Amino acid sequence: MKTIIEPFRIKMVEPIKLTTQAEREVKLRAVHFNVFQIPADDVIIDLLTDSGTAAMSSEQWAGMIRSDESYAGARSWFRFESVMRDLTGMPHILPTHQGRASERILFELIGGAGKVIPSNNHFDTTRANIEHSGAKAVDLVIDEGKQPRSHHPFKGNIDLAKLARLITEVGPERIPVCMLTVTNNSGGGQPASLENIRATRDLCHRHGIPFFLDACRFAENAYLIKQREHGQANRSAREIAQEMFALADGATISAKKDGLVNIGGVLLMCDDALAARANNLLILTEGFVTYGGLAGRDLEAMAQGFVEVLDEHYLEYRIRSTAYLGEGLMKAGVQIVEPPGGHAIYIDASAFCPHIPPSAFPGQALVCALYRHAGIRAVEIGSVMFGAGGAPPMELVRLALPRRVYTQSHIDYVIEAITELYQQRDSLHGLRIIEEPPTLRHFTAKFAEI
Ligand code: F0G
Repeated sequence: MKTIIEPFRIKMVEPIKLTTQAEREVKLRAVHFNVFQIPADDVIIDLLTDSGTAAMSSEQWAGMIRSDESYAGARSWFRFESVMRDLTGMPHILPTHQGRASERILFELIGGAGKVIPSNNHFDTTRANIEHSGAKAVDLVIDEGKQPRSHHPFKGNIDLAKLARLITEVGPERIPVCMLTVTNNSGGGQPASLENIRATRDLCHRHGIPFFLDACRFAENAYLIKQREHGQANRSAREIAQEMFALADGATISAKKDGLVNIGGVLLMCDDALAARANNLLILTEGFVTYGGLAGRDLEAMAQGFVEVLDEHYLEYRIRSTAYLGEGLMKAGVQIVEPPGGHAIYIDASAFCPHIPPSAFPGQALVCALYRHAGIRAVEIGSVMFGAGGAPPMELVRLALPRRVYTQSHIDYVIEAITELYQQRDSLHGLRIIEEPPTLRHFTAKFAEI
């Protein structure tokens, strides 16, 4: 059979409130063209993020009922620990409430003034936590990773020559860790290859630098390795994921992505002395080492989620549905970051509305038009999000796909809506900012149409 189906049935449904274009126009104006301010009930298809938005399975819900809420040494903790140990091989497994809590603990311990922390691309919260510690975050993705229409299969790879140069320039003693984000969220959800992960590890270890993964989307990265990397097709996604973790000295994970849960995170490491300090900080700010800011039921849901996410049928469906959205848009002439990555499709908004200059926020204009036209919520990743800082970034609109939530007809609706908008793209209006906060302006800025 050619058709790849959703490998699950639906036994609980959540109604979607359908609104009219006229109703949405009123709502959009009421929030000054900022879709972060729109109540989720007024959104038809919500593609704002794939984080914490997954649908849990019947086994995950059953685990939540079976869970043990003991303060110390709960049964749910031992199940979670055993699943994570089997997957990652890491001796130290610290539960946290989400990804940025893991980052905060790690960088509080190893960051600080004068330190430099390279990555392919740091995610915003990772960068913010590094900078909060006083250290400097440096992005070293390969050049192809910055070109929307380059077809390199591993646009999430770190540039090893640039990494080597950085190590020589600043000296290994100032680099407490090198990170690699898999998949590379800020760079279009693109994977890093096993070869690149191994070579990065080797380069770091030659200089005594620990190597950590930001492994939020490790399963999607593993499946893209299976599909795209020479010699990997016959291995299971699980084996590939295990090798990815085996190559690393530690990892930060937001379980809200490939953990298939609505809340949760993990901090993993091999170093005993560092782990002892991390455990102290965990107890101080998150919770005791066997629950780390979570309930026993959250640990159960995560344990089951980290097993289910490596199911080959799930991953085939997941990666295929992202590609399906991307291919549908490309067929309509819409330019996207190619090839489609793991969790999201990124529309090139400057190509979509060339008549709107970056100063009039083409990405935000497209996000607003999408909401008005079809009730779809996406997120601008361009001049609104990053432009206040200076350097003009790519003008992208991210359509992030929640896991196991939407069906193919929902995605067909999204493709149809964007195709219609593309045909009338000349009518899209640019925006200007009428009010903005001093930092992270995309969440609360107010706009007016030009
Ligand atoms: N690292 C990456 C690569 C991420 O994408 C995220 C979150 C985090 C770390 C932080 O995890 O939210 O659990 O604290 N990304 C979400 C997104 C918010 O929409 O891309 P968190």
